[in-house]
Amino acid sequence: MKRLIFIISTFVAIALIIFACNDKSKEPGATTLSKDDSLKQQLERGKYLANSVVNCADCHSKLDTSKFSAPVVPGTEGGGGLALHEILPADIPGKMWVPNITPYALKDWTDDEIARAITAGVNKKGDTLFPLMPYHGLSRMAKEDVEAVVAYLRSLKPIEASFPARELFIPAAAFGPLPDVDYKKNTRPDTADKVKYGEYLVTIGHCTDCHTPVTKEKMPMMDKFLSGGQHFKLPTFEVTVSNITPDSVTGLGTWTEAMFLAKFRTNSTPEMLASKPGKANTLMPWSFYGTMSDSDLKAIYAYLRTVPPIKNKVEKWPTAAVASR
Ligand code: HEC
Ligand code: HEC
Repeated sequence: MKRLIFIISTFVAIALIIFACNDKSKEPGATTLSKDDSLKQQLERGKYLANSVVNCADCHSKLDTSKFSAPVVPGTEGGGGLALHEILPADIPGKMWVPNITPYALKDWTDDEIARAITAGVNKKGDTLFPLMPYHGLSRMAKEDVEAVVAYLRSLKPIEASFPARELFIPAAAFGPLPDVDYKKNTRPDTADKVKYGEYLVTIGHCTDCHTPVTKEKMPMMDKFLSGGQHFKLPTFEVTVSNITPDSVTGLGTWTEAMFLAKFRTNSTPEMLASKPGKANTLMPWSFYGTMSDSDLKAIYAYLRTVPPIKNKVEKWPTAAVASR
C-alpha cells in the first residue's frame, strides 16, 4: 500500500514537473495573463490615467462653467471644441480651439505620433503645441502608461467634429524649450515608494501648471514651486490658486492625510458637481482628481509633505463674498 502511494505520488510529481515546463507563463519574461486580460488591464490603466490623473477630457471636451468645477458636458468627452480664447482670454495669445482627440480626428496618426504629441508637444505635422497641453509634465510619463493612454484614446467613441486651426500672434519658439524626451526610456517608480510615486503623479497630473506661480512671460517660478497665487479670470468667475506646499500658516501644513483625501471626495460628490456656485467657482478639476484611488491620493499627500514650505497667503475668491470652501 505504501509502495502504491509512493508510485502514485511520483507520477503526480512528474506530471506536475512536465506541466510546469509546458506552462509558458513560467518562462522568464512571460506574464501569467492571457493576451485579452493584459489588453483589458492596459485599457483600464489608460482610462484611469486619462480620467483621474491627467484629465485629458478636462480640456478636450466642452465644459459647463456654470456648474462647480466646470464639469464636462456629457457626450463631448475627447471631442474637443473648447474655445480657449473665450474661456481664458487673458492666457491665450490669439485664438485656439482644443482639438478633437477621438479616433475620428486621430485615425491617420500612428501610435508613436500620438505618443509624441502627448510627451514631446509636437503634432503630426511637426508643429510645437501650445504648452497649455501639459506635455512638460507628461514628458516624464512611463512608457507603459503612455501606451495605455494611447490604447484608451483609440477605444473612445469617435466624435465627428472639427475646429478651426489655431491663430496665434506669437511664434511657437516663445513657448519655451520643448522637453528633451524619449518616452520609451521612461520608467515608472515603484508604488511602494510613496514619495517617489507621489512625485510621479504630481508631475503627470501637472499640478504645477496651475499651482506654481508664473512670470509675466508665463514661465513657472520654480523657486516658488506649488505655492499658489496664479489668478484665472473667466467670463463668469475669477479664482486664485491655492498654496499646496506644507507651510503651516498659508499652505497645507496643518492638513492630515485624512483631511486631504476628504477634500477630494467631498468636492466631487454628484450634488457638489451639480451645484452652481456662481462667482465662487473653481478651475481645480475636482470631478476628475476626485476619482483618484485612495492609495494614489495618499502618495500625492506624502510627496507634498516633502516639498519646501513656502509662505504665500492666497485668497481664492477675493471678489466673491463667500466663506472659504
Ligand atoms: C490643460 C489642458 C489639456 C490637457 C489636460 C490635455 N490637453 Fe491635449 N491639448 C491641449 C491643447 C490646448 C492642445 C492644442 C495645442 C495647440 O494646437 O497648440 C492639445 C493638443 C493635443 C494633441 C494634438 C492634437 C492635434 O490635432 O494637434 C493630442 C494628441 C493631445 N492633446 C492629447 C492629449 C491627451 C491624450 C491628454 C491626456 C493624457 C491631453 N491631451 C491632456 C490641452 C490639453
Ligand atoms: C487647472 C488648474 C489646476 C490644476 C491642474 C490643479 N489645481 Fe488644485 N486648485 C486649483 C484652484 C483654482 C484651486 C483653488 C480653488 C479650489 O479650492 O477649488 C485649487 C485648490 C486645490 C486644493 C485645495 C487647497 C485649499 O486650500 O483648500 C488642493 C488640495 C489642490 N488644489 C491640490 C491639487 C493637486 C494635488 C493637483 C494635481 C494632482 C492640482 N491641485 C491640480 C487649480 C488647479
